[in-house]
Amino acid sequence: MFWLDLATVTLLLPAVSSAVPHSRRATGLDSFLQSESSVALQGALDNIGPDGSGAQGASSGIVVASPSKSNPDYFYTWTRDSAMTLSMLIEQFLAGDTSLETTIHQYITAQATLQSVSNPSGDLSNGAGLGEPKFNTDMTAFTGAWGRPQRDGPALRASALMAYGTYLINNGQTSLAKTNIWPIVENDLNYVAQYWNQTGYDLWEEIQGSSFFTIAVQHRSLVSGSTFAQSLGESCTGCDSQAPQVLCFLQDFWNGSSVISNLANDGRSGLDANSLLGSIHTFDPNAQCDDTTFQPCSSRALSNHKLVVDSFRSIYTINSGKEASEAVAVGRYPEDSYMGGNPWYLNTMAAAELLYDALYQWNKQGSLSVTQISLPFFQSLVSSAAAGNYSSSSATYSSLTGAVKTYADGFMSIVEQYTPSNGSMSEQFSRDDGTPLSASDLTWSYAAFMTAVARRNGTMPGTWGESGANTVPTQCEGTSANGTYVTPTAVSW
Ligand SMILES: *[C@@H]1O[C@H](CO)[C@@H](O)[C@H](O)[C@H]1NC(C)=O
Ligand SMILES: *[C@@H]1O[C@H](CO)[C@@H](O)[C@H](O)[C@H]1NC(C)=O
Ligand SMILES: *[C@@H]1O[C@H](CO)[C@@H](O)[C@H](O)[C@H]1NC(C)=O
Ligand SMILES: *[C@@H]1O[C@H](CO)[C@@H](O)[C@H](O)[C@H]1NC(C)=O
Ligand SMILES: *[C@@H]1O[C@H](CO)[C@@H](O)[C@H](O)[C@H]1NC(C)=O
Ligand SMILES: *[C@@H]1O[C@H](CO)[C@@H](O)[C@H](O)[C@H]1NC(C)=O
Repeated sequence: MFWLDLATVTLLLPAVSSAVPHSRRATGLDSFLQSESSVALQGALDNIGPDGSGAQGASSGIVVASPSKSNPDYFYTWTRDSAMTLSMLIEQFLAGDTSLETTIHQYITAQATLQSVSNPSGDLSNGAGLGEPKFNTDMTAFTGAWGRPQRDGPALRASALMAYGTYLINNGQTSLAKTNIWPIVENDLNYVAQYWNQTGYDLWEEIQGSSFFTIAVQHRSLVSGSTFAQSLGESCTGCDSQAPQVLCFLQDFWNGSSVISNLANDGRSGLDANSLLGSIHTFDPNAQCDDTTFQPCSSRALSNHKLVVDSFRSIYTINSGKEASEAVAVGRYPEDSYMGGNPWYLNTMAAAELLYDALYQWNKQGSLSVTQISLPFFQSLVSSAAAGNYSSSSATYSSLTGAVKTYADGFMSIVEQYTPSNGSMSEQFSRDDGTPLSASDLTWSYAAFMTAVARRNGTMPGTWGESGANTVPTQCEGTSANGTYVTPTAVSW
């Protein structure tokens, strides 16, 4: 790939490495990303029980959100954060780090237990308890007041488990996938098929309504759930019947130039990193630049990327003086006031990851289209950009993709600039001076770093079947499929 990093180029071309022009030598960013990769992977593992140094007292396989126990207290296990962390670890496992398999097993075993813990959202009899956002680290229910339910968790957990289950199937361990993975996944898929058309809290746990991120990851889970079930000789009738309707509803979040991240009476602009995260967590390396699923290289995703990023340019002091073509620190949404309303590491890295994904998609299809919708995005990077279709052999393609790569790296350079020298990554950094703030060693920050850098390195996730599931029904309907829920049997490996 054309953005192959210099370390690899040097390995491939040892005889000419000394002739590489100075400007193409490993940059500070490359060396930061390399050293931080070890810190981030270890940082995530440190927050997983029973042995992680930041997860003392947590049960086996339980991912804590952060070791921080006060201001804020994040010493709990969230279904969403845990699933995204495990998706990253499973990706690293599939890329060759076999040492991670025990942790993956422990996580799955823990989820089998957690699914049947009755909690304030409900229990497993009608699936409602699966929407509970967080549990205590000893796997008991958290009974305090909270924004619940949150309906993205089951979808994300199903997708993480299916990634590992697909590996088992492809490696002659179908029966293990059937006994240990499918019962958990089936409950989660049935939950999504039954409850997708009901409101819940968004991923930031603040807004009750319908959230773009939630609906996007739900659609993905149902589409891949259908194929995964078939490969086990099972079926997911709710997946088949509901997925097209979930995609239909997803279109309601698009307003013509950006994603309105929450459909709710929330008094916000709608610009929110929720949408960047939605695109990267439904990225399919086999997809075209489809608008209906907001693929990273789609006109919709790029137009939205610009509007979301621009919404943070003038409000943070640390972003002042940056040109429109330069990356800036990205928060959750411009109206945010939580902990002072600061940029977040994981959102700044999501802005980069979306662009690395898009570069992969353009490179794979051998062309790039600039449409009226995506034109403002491209023009802010290359002022002469014009609508058109550019083959990868054209100079325009090289200039546009080169500018996108530089822009994407800019977001990672901001993360580098505001990460302390020991590599520890908290949740936020100050809008005034970049000092790390809020929860320390946030597991999700480390997971977000790993996936962004993996995409930059050319490591892609598996397909979820987007190319067979991007046609929007002509009429949207608010539907539901009643599911059945079965207590997962004790899992042994
Ligand atoms: C979509 O919403 C964004 C954010 O509120 C706004 O800036 C933009 O003008 C809207 N676009 C259209 C076409 O209505
Ligand atoms: C780019 O190609 C698409 C698909 O063939 C076509 O619909 C569109 O009009 C083209 N755009 C330009 C500006 O030529
Ligand atoms: C890393 O550095 C930060 C900032 O100086 C500090 O707060 C944190 O305790 C350090 N972490 C470790 C594990 O030393
Ligand atoms: C990215 O590639 C570099 C150089 O090969 C490597 O050191 C690093 O671990 C990789 N990081 C990830 C997250 O894949
Ligand atoms: C349910 O789906 C219908 C059709 O897409 C949509 O109009 C409605 O807003 C949805 N409601 C919720 C809460 O998801
Ligand atoms: C789903 O279950 C509810 C409650 O048992 C029932 O009222 C409803 O008719 C069922 N819906 C479908 C589509 O089977």
